[in-house]
Amino acid sequence: MPRTTCPGAAAPPETGPAHFAQRLVDWQRTFGRHDLPWQVRDPYRVWLSEIMLQQTQVSVVMGYFARFTARFPTVQALAEAPQDAVLAAWSGLGYYRRARYLHQCAQQVVQRYGGRFPSSAAELVTLPGIGPSTAAAIAAFCFDERAAILDGNVQRVLCRSHGIADPLPSATTTRRLWALARALLPEADAIAAYTQGLMDLGATVCKPRQPACEQCPFAADCQARRGGDPQRLPVRAAAARARPVHHTVMLWLHQPGRDDCWLEQRGHDGVWPGLWSLPLFDTQELALAYAARHGSVLGLKALAPFRHGFTHFELVVQPLQVALLPQPHAAENAAAAGQWVARSEAAQRGLPAPVRKLLSRGLALQDPPQQALLE
Ligand code: ADE
Repeated sequence: MPRTTCPGAAAPPETGPAHFAQRLVDWQRTFGRHDLPWQVRDPYRVWLSEIMLQQTQVSVVMGYFARFTARFPTVQALAEAPQDAVLAAWSGLGYYRRARYLHQCAQQVVQRYGGRFPSSAAELVTLPGIGPSTAAAIAAFCFDERAAILDGNVQRVLCRSHGIADPLPSATTTRRLWALARALLPEADAIAAYTQGLMDLGATVCKPRQPACEQCPFAADCQARRGGDPQRLPVRAAAARARPVHHTVMLWLHQPGRDDCWLEQRGHDGVWPGLWSLPLFDTQELALAYAARHGSVLGLKALAPFRHGFTHFELVVQPLQVALLPQPHAAENAAAAGQWVARSEAAQRGLPAPVRKLLSRGLALQDPPQQALLE
């Protein structure tokens, strides 16, 4: 396999900083994080936090983690909860596939393992939503298994410390990084501190931009730093940079004299499956035709468009508020999956974050005067 190294790298990449694990463990014990609420040897809490932290920062996860564990204190409680309740507790964290897998995983832990999480990474990885890195984190933190993690932060730490300039994402580079991550593991008695150290270093020191190299235990022999520009690594594959952009019209129907909205529960396909959302349309014409099928349109106002990022694409959302006098039974004909919901009640549902944000802003279009009636 061809090896790519940083310019200026003096040593072959896999030799990297000497005594890597010991230095990281020492650093973690002195400078790492020790009081996060999921730093307990309880696989339910560790698993939950690892899933929440996959795409979300610690500062945001803290509040969600506290509310979620208060609402579902055990894996049994989570398994028995209705999916809507789980989605509502997850609402705002985004990436809702995680919440559906979370629920399925809890049910499998109860059905297959009697409510006790299995203790090896090899078994944990067979559960829904648990990938190899998450399985390793749970096994290392809760059961002292010498298992390697490799999330995005750890990839960055290893690429920089070991001067790996192969592009990411790529199956070849990832394979190489997994091999390196396994080769660097310490003995079992230090595995928890080591794993936490990798996470802490990636999140607080070896950051994507403006890394705080002066605080890094590998500053003296980090290959990327020797190259003069640590931020250059990891190298991003060209295709990974551009995300396609899609457009949608988000229709906020409301009734005169009521602070409400029409919400639909989304189907299994498309964005935000299973969540409650304002209806989405490809064009404004389709949105207005839908509104007209519900009743008499009294007025409309286009709000400022916004962008929402998904893993593989960006969505540009044009919100459209429409005041509507509903016709009796129109709802049944127009959309069986929808409901009129008071705005205060909508906040209790499992809503996508941008819908929650939009609804929290309130109505820009109050009851329109008669002359605003549309033809
Ligand atoms: N990111 C992923 N897992 C984490 C953990 N256990 N602590 C802090 N940040 C994390």
